[in-house]
Amino acid sequence: MKLDVVLGLQWGDEGKGKIVDVLADTYPVIARFQGGPNAGHSLNFGDTKFVLHSIPAGVFRKNTINIIGSGVVLDPIIFRTECMDIEKLGVPIRERLKISKKTHLILPTHRIIDAASEASKGKSKIGSTLKGIGPTYMDKTGRNGLRVGDILATDFIERFNALKTKHISFLKQFDFQYDPDQNEKEWLDAIEYMKQFEFIDGEYVINEFLDKNKKILAEGAQGSMLDIDFGSYPFVTSSSTACAGACIGLGVAPSKIGRVYGIFKAYCTRVGSGPFPTELNDSVGEELRQRGFEFGATTGRPRRTGWLDLIALKYAIMLSGVTELIMMKADVLDTFDTIKVATGYKVNGEYSEHVPFDTYAEIEPVYKEFAGWKKDLSQIKKEENLPYEFMKYVKFIEEETKVPVKIISLGPDREQTIIRED
Ligand code: GDP
Ligand code: IMO
Ligand code: MG
Repeated sequence: MKLDVVLGLQWGDEGKGKIVDVLADTYPVIARFQGGPNAGHSLNFGDTKFVLHSIPAGVFRKNTINIIGSGVVLDPIIFRTECMDIEKLGVPIRERLKISKKTHLILPTHRIIDAASEASKGKSKIGSTLKGIGPTYMDKTGRNGLRVGDILATDFIERFNALKTKHISFLKQFDFQYDPDQNEKEWLDAIEYMKQFEFIDGEYVINEFLDKNKKILAEGAQGSMLDIDFGSYPFVTSSSTACAGACIGLGVAPSKIGRVYGIFKAYCTRVGSGPFPTELNDSVGEELRQRGFEFGATTGRPRRTGWLDLIALKYAIMLSGVTELIMMKADVLDTFDTIKVATGYKVNGEYSEHVPFDTYAEIEPVYKEFAGWKKDLSQIKKEENLPYEFMKYVKFIEEETKVPVKIISLGPDREQTIIRED
């Protein structure tokens, strides 16, 4: 069996949580492969609304095994709160969740470093979620980090204190006020709480499942345009958000990758700083924000909004070898007379169909316009009932990207999903 992957093709918040929850009906194993509690993955079914930060979005499906993979960074405090909230809904979380021993731990001082580093950048700040993501991945690649498997070591506290001391020394370079013991007791209590969960050798467990023909869905966080290598550096997150990240973060060979589901919104959003060529700072952008309820699931920040950007979308598809597309939130466009799509860029005045290296380049999008469908899509359950103008929009995207749109999501609920026949 091959490993199927779900990943975001834009700047995050494409609707990965909803789709993983939908697909988890047919996948007995779901594994998060990177990122940490910077993610906010929203799920809606019946009267239940839930935002997951670290736990895979298969957790609400019976008989699933959910794995927090080695490529993830985990904050014990946030993890414990999330588990307790899930348990309140009657989900036997300890039975359904396993954590890789190689998952790195976010310390309270990682979060302080994140805050100090962002504050020192002033206007050029990244717009980080301030969850300690960057500093934790820095310690991982710098070979200083603490991992989930270390929790069981007899000298865990000594190692925690040694890393904390290093962090305090590092913080001397910043003019930043902080309490070095902030959240420490709560963090150590949460570490004790974590001991109730099964810590696994994730790479063995996942490869054994594949050998036994068990279907596994890998769940990405963030989006391709926030990738540490291929996103708009430095306005990115600190992990590999493209498909290769699933191999790295779960310990699965590239030859074992099967379907690659690329998720995109029918328009674009971005939270935090950095280039956004199709951004709309006008009433149309505001209408997108209000209709799409574009406010961060983790930080509550208003998301920046704009038209669909095919140059960025094709780039993301190329990076990950996307085999099928999943289009989200087209219902948000129901009221628009005209819908625009960027099919090219003018980069510093020159026409281009490439995402430029220069993050600070002036980009003017070249648009193609479509007539809006002006109908409520949110209650449509069958493909044949979708309006002609909407299908024209979908077909155009398929022709341009050369990838079929296999799933169309028309509302936040599980049920508001059309899976197209082959
Ligand atoms: P994720 O980080 O990729 O999981 O996405 P988020 O959960 O951060 O943001 C997606 C938001 O859109 C959430 O509030 C979802 O409930 C909502 N959503 C998902 N799919 C749809 C859809 O097809 N239509 C509408 N209107 N909302 C959707
Ligand atoms: P999900 O999984 C949207 C953005 C932040 C910031 C940059 C770096 O819900 O799609 P970090 O906290 O990683 O140092 O922030 O990345 N960012 C996200 N934007 N969705 C996310 O996750 C994000 N995770 C990080 O806003 O610009
Ligand atoms: Mg999100």
